[in-house]
Amino acid sequence: MTKPLAEYNFFDPAVIENPFEFYQAAREQAPVYLLPGTKPPIYLVTSFDLISEALKDPYTFSNNFSAALQGRAAYDDDVKKVISRGWPQVDTLLTNDPPSHTRFRKLVNTAFTPGKVNRLEDYVADFVNELIDGIIDRGECEFITDFAVKLPVTVIADQLGVPRSDQALFKTWSDAFVARLGGMASKEEELEAAQHIVDFQHYMIEKANERRKDPKQDILSDLVHAQVDDERPLDEAELLSILQQLLVAGNETTTNTLAGGLLLLIQNPDQMTRVRQDPTLIKNMVEEILRLESPTSGMWRVVKKAGELGGVPIPAGSMLHLRYAAANRDETKFADAEAFDPGRKNAGIHLAFGRGTHMCVGAVLAKKEMTVAFTHLLRRLDNIRLAEGRNDLTHFPNVLLRGLKALHIEFDRAA
Ligand code: HEM
Repeated sequence: MTKPLAEYNFFDPAVIENPFEFYQAAREQAPVYLLPGTKPPIYLVTSFDLISEALKDPYTFSNNFSAALQGRAAYDDDVKKVISRGWPQVDTLLTNDPPSHTRFRKLVNTAFTPGKVNRLEDYVADFVNELIDGIIDRGECEFITDFAVKLPVTVIADQLGVPRSDQALFKTWSDAFVARLGGMASKEEELEAAQHIVDFQHYMIEKANERRKDPKQDILSDLVHAQVDDERPLDEAELLSILQQLLVAGNETTTNTLAGGLLLLIQNPDQMTRVRQDPTLIKNMVEEILRLESPTSGMWRVVKKAGELGGVPIPAGSMLHLRYAAANRDETKFADAEAFDPGRKNAGIHLAFGRGTHMCVGAVLAKKEMTVAFTHLLRRLDNIRLAEGRNDLTHFPNVLLRGLKALHIEFDRAA
């Protein structure tokens, strides 16, 4: 039996840290739950079927929530002043709705086709092995800094034409965007984040201009030259908006899934042995890790027209918070939902990438990176374990993105 829902506070850092009992209570007692005291009213949706239903109706449940993500940029003159030195923020993908969204999505899809991503496989494998070379003799590492951050940042930075010598900058910019998204930053942090965002814009426009003159085989060249049907190509502000999203969406989430996935393997040694003995399970295991980790724990929708969800009337002007992480542990969809089962038959139906109009553009790339990473980590490292006394296994306090702060591990070189 779970406690009455009213006894939990969704925004309480303790609940954000360990939300699974609350998710179960919400699914059982009120799968569409008006979060007490919220203005505008926020309805938290936690059941798999009701989230899927909401995702089918982008005209009622809109992604046009950029105002909610603006933080102080909406009202603080100091932050506005910094932002004004860059290009305007335009709604292209995540915070846009069809039909305008459709044009951008078509253009960006041309850079992320399965064919293009598959061609990156050997390059990703080489880099994964380079990262393993860097830690294997030490027998221990902090997995997030030494591996899980470096893989996605390097892949996307390479694909966006950023030289490896500038990658630290890239991570700083990515963190700046995430700080704004998290909704928990101080004024100083927001000012600093705004400056980073403007720096990122100036830097990327220069790179884009290089690609315009001299195209290469990378995502930046594809985006600069992307044209579908008779649509005009992306202008500078649109291109920057998309690049910004690729940077944020692709880094933090993949890092967090890699780290959370490795921890799941360590905590489930029988499953680690099973996957080592049968590496063909790794592809499905990545889906199962995504299901349980759901690194994008939830996403906003703005209610444009009065509607109804699961029998609950939803007024226009309110917000939905679609809690993908709760849907992915819904017992009506996943038997023994809290258990980690790399062989789970329906693991792949999870909502960790969302679904429908806004389903993650980078899903194929992220899965490729993770499959290649776990393949080589399990092949080359044996006896992977937690470094004793060095882990508290807590997560960053962030309502949208879930990720471990650190993961200290020890291992042996595989024979
Ligand atoms: C494990 C890794 C990842 C996870 C869990 C993830 C999760 C998500 C989710 C849940 C959404 C949908 C948001 C909504 O419902 O409104 C989304 C959208 C998006 N993702 Fe990812 N993502 C990941 C990796 C990536 C990568 C590698 C990239 C690009 C390099 C990327 C780029 C995007 C973009 C641009 C969107 C917006 C798409 C649109 O609105 O049309 N993501 N992602």
